[in-house]
Amino acid sequence: MNLDGKVAIVTGGAQGMGRAIAWRLAQEGADVVVADLRQEGAQQVVEEIVGAGGRGLAVAVDVRRQEQVQAMVDAATGRFGGLDVLVNNAGVGKIIPFLETTEQDWDFMFDVNCKGLLWCSQAASRVMIAQGRGGRIINLASQAGRRGEALVLAYCASKAAVISMTQSMALALAEHQITVNAIAPGIVDTPFWVEVDKQFARLLNVPEGEPKRRFTATIPLGRIEQPEDVAGVAAFLASADAGYITQQCLNVDGGSWPS
Ligand SMILES: NC(=O)c1ccc[n+]([C@@H]2O[C@H](COP(=O)([O-])OP(=O)(O)OC[C@H]3O[C@@H](n4cnc5c(N)ncnc54)[C@H](O)[C@@H]3O)[C@@H](O)[C@H]2O)c1
Repeated sequence: MNLDGKVAIVTGGAQGMGRAIAWRLAQEGADVVVADLRQEGAQQVVEEIVGAGGRGLAVAVDVRRQEQVQAMVDAATGRFGGLDVLVNNAGVGKIIPFLETTEQDWDFMFDVNCKGLLWCSQAASRVMIAQGRGGRIINLASQAGRRGEALVLAYCASKAAVISMTQSMALALAEHQITVNAIAPGIVDTPFWVEVDKQFARLLNVPEGEPKRRFTATIPLGRIEQPEDVAGVAAFLASADAGYITQQCLNVDGGSWPS
């Protein structure tokens, strides 16, 4: 998976899966822009990457804001001279029953998970098209996008939209040799699931930690997913070996889907 000479942006790179993906791409030789709402978190990841001999740049971005997204892409090309890989990892989720879902909840999840993904993909692909050397866009979907869940309507819908957007973008960008794929993780041990566990616990009236234990017990491979499980697949999709794969959503969920 040699990514020497490649330039990558990872959104939501300050923690969780984004952090692991940024690390892995840097280990494979890429120059990595770690972009996040939380500038200090992104800066810390970059310092770790640079400390290990890699090259990185931290950028503060709210992916919902087109002008900030454009500034992020400009910073990447300004510092590293081009752009080859975009990982649309920034995402948010809340556990809210169908009847209690508000306009604010709906907008929050769709604004970050879908609208932000669109702005980042547009800005990155304009650069990739102009460069004329192809490119890779990798979107973080979810097993939640594969099916409905009574307590998770808006998040499931937003991740189903990510899978659909992946397909449309792949077709729109194929003539430029830009591949677009998604990864659908299962239950990943990140700060995200700490919050999700709390929200499920409140709704199911069980102690904190119990929802995570229950859901993990259903995973065929018998353990909770680690961010590194996803990072390796992202690195593969960014690599030359994945050059003929596009419009796909890879389930990386320990065998949970379909079931
Ligand atoms: N953890 C899971 O079980 C799981 C499962 C399937 C899919 N996912 C998806 O994978 C991705 C990463 O998940 P995670 O568990 O690492 O999440 P996380 O909450 O641990 O980290 C997400 C990062 O995104 C950043 N972010 C949030 N909103 C942003 C915005 N508007 N602009 C820029 N950055 C923003 C946060 O600051 C944070 O650093 C998300 O898209 C999530 O929906 C997570």
